[in-house]
Amino acid sequence: MDDAGSDPDLVRELAELAAEFARGAAALVRRFSARRVVVSTKSTDTDLVTDADRATERWLVAQIARARPGDATLGEEGGARAGRTGVRWVLDPIDGTVNFVLGLRRYAVSVAAEVDGAAVAGAVCDAASGELFRAQRGGGAYLDGRRLHGPRPVPLAQAVLGTGFGYDAGVRARQGELLAAVLPRVADIRRLGSASLDLCAVAVGRLDGYFETGLSPWDHAAGALIASEAGCLVSGLRAEPPDERLTAVAGPVAAAELFSLLDELLAGPLSSSGSTSQPSARPS
Ligand code: IPD
Repeated sequence: MDDAGSDPDLVRELAELAAEFARGAAALVRRFSARRVVVSTKSTDTDLVTDADRATERWLVAQIARARPGDATLGEEGGARAGRTGVRWVLDPIDGTVNFVLGLRRYAVSVAAEVDGAAVAGAVCDAASGELFRAQRGGGAYLDGRRLHGPRPVPLAQAVLGTGFGYDAGVRARQGELLAAVLPRVADIRRLGSASLDLCAVAVGRLDGYFETGLSPWDHAAGALIASEAGCLVSGLRAEPPDERLTAVAGPVAAAELFSLLDELLAGPLSSSGSTSQPSARPS
């Protein structure tokens, strides 16, 4: 008998809902962006949260409870709520909060649905532009109805990669060392400020690849599925699934070289400076 994660009706339902929730939440974020937001800090003085993040996550959790009572949720601003259906929603109400606070138009709502721990559906809505990236497991990835096929077929030396940094000074210092070691091996680097949109940028070919250490599940759950369904290779450390130690993605031509470079650096020269991970459940 099939497991619940391969029930096509369930996966289709979750994919439709993920898209509806991400689009609806992005509309709410847009309304907040038109007025003054209240900003406070979380894990460090540079880790920002706004009233818009919190209100948007509350809206998402309420929509999920209405549409599928009994599902679990894990949200950046609200922590974990248990469920009883085997389905868990992983939510980032505003991925790119610093951009949002600065008025830089690159922040998104990220919604993923997992069945028994594996992501089967995901949607990332760029709140400023309204672009909606979506995927369901085995069904491909789409941007506003257009099928996505990943980045240019360039080797690592010609690839433009995205990356990002955490909010803890010690973590950032180690991320800087990793970046310094990667930079001479690639064409260029971008730091755009929203991990979920970075992953979608690889899916649509606006970046050739992406890597970051220290991400939380809500940063990568939807975007990693979208990239993978666009034909990209997605990996964590030593071919494990992406987690807080590493999330890396690239097209088939550059992926093997990128992943082995990161494995080598994180296991070798940079391992002596300690783990690059940061707490995965940041206090609100
Ligand atoms: C952050 C963004 C950023 C990444 C950080 C994330 P947030 O998420 O995705 O690009 O570099 O690691 O924490 O805090 O804006 O939701």
